[in-house]
Amino acid sequence: MKNVKGIDTNDMRAMVEAFPSLLCLTKPDPSIMTVASQTFSSGLEGVCIAGMGGSAITGQMTKALLAQKAEIPIITWRNYEIPRCVTKKWAVICVSYSGNTEETLSAFETAKKVGGTLFVVTTGGAILGQSRDLPVALLPKGIQPRAALPAIFSIVLPIVEALVGVGSTDFSKLSVILNGLVKRWGKEIMSPRNLAECTRSLVPLFIGSGHLASVAYRAKCQINENAKAVAFNAELPEANHNEIEASHMYQESGIVPIFLRSTHESKRMSARFAATDAVYRQNDCAPIHVRLSGLSELEEVLAITHYLDMLSVDAADIRGVDSVRVDRIAELKRRLAEGS
Ligand code: PA5
Repeated sequence: MKNVKGIDTNDMRAMVEAFPSLLCLTKPDPSIMTVASQTFSSGLEGVCIAGMGGSAITGQMTKALLAQKAEIPIITWRNYEIPRCVTKKWAVICVSYSGNTEETLSAFETAKKVGGTLFVVTTGGAILGQSRDLPVALLPKGIQPRAALPAIFSIVLPIVEALVGVGSTDFSKLSVILNGLVKRWGKEIMSPRNLAECTRSLVPLFIGSGHLASVAYRAKCQINENAKAVAFNAELPEANHNEIEASHMYQESGIVPIFLRSTHESKRMSARFAATDAVYRQNDCAPIHVRLSGLSELEEVLAITHYLDMLSVDAADIRGVDSVRVDRIAELKRRLAEGS
């Protein structure tokens, strides 16, 4: 049994149960935070967070939470190289749990050539070998990258907060809050197990808005990767301009919309959710609403992610699949390596 701080890293359920404590597993070294604060004061023009899969999602969440407060753009990048708008007046954060993901290595190499401030978040691999003299945040090894989200987030969010000068999050407090919220599963919202049972032969379509759009995308990826099942995500208001026209087919296609609701929604956004719900119902499809009251935007992002991560593990159990193994991703990487 491999383990990190007593968590069995061969057991996805154990890793998801440890979500709140993983938020406090590590934090950026003070020297990294000093580089980030100095970079902010030096007239930074933008922040680019590069990474793939489980390593990328914290960038998307960070952007969703900070973009409206930051005076400079925060962008995420899931591809080779980096966009041309990223100059040496930008900071780039390359996140790769393994340190060996080829797209992220390509982004890293390009960012090095561009010459801005470059941060690396990893456990090791090729990226670490090429990061001498760079600010590197080392993550503990052995966790599945997607299950390491809380640990990665506890590094990426503080670095970006310092880069854009917007204060800092207390992760120990967050961890305590998240632990307490688990007790509300099965009361205020259906337990993840019940939701997994109710949707067992259906295809979930996670729909979020604002900061919860990133959570909808994460949930889709977790159902794909952990439960080896089809899932989709969409975002309001955009989905009201296209996706909604397909809702007459949801029932026959076995699609169940799962609305991720925020207590911070504007009145107009609440009206959109209500109207979308009504249109879907007219088309014989009843959306499920997931909402936890009394939380900040950041707490909502983490709490609903934790809840839906557990849904993906329960869905995997019900389907009788191993949520840790990712054989098709391994097979694809093998084929790409053979072809190169
Ligand atoms: O969660 C996973 O296992 C994947 O989505 C990986 O995160 C993805 O393949 C990228 O790998 P890494 O996170 O090691 O850069």
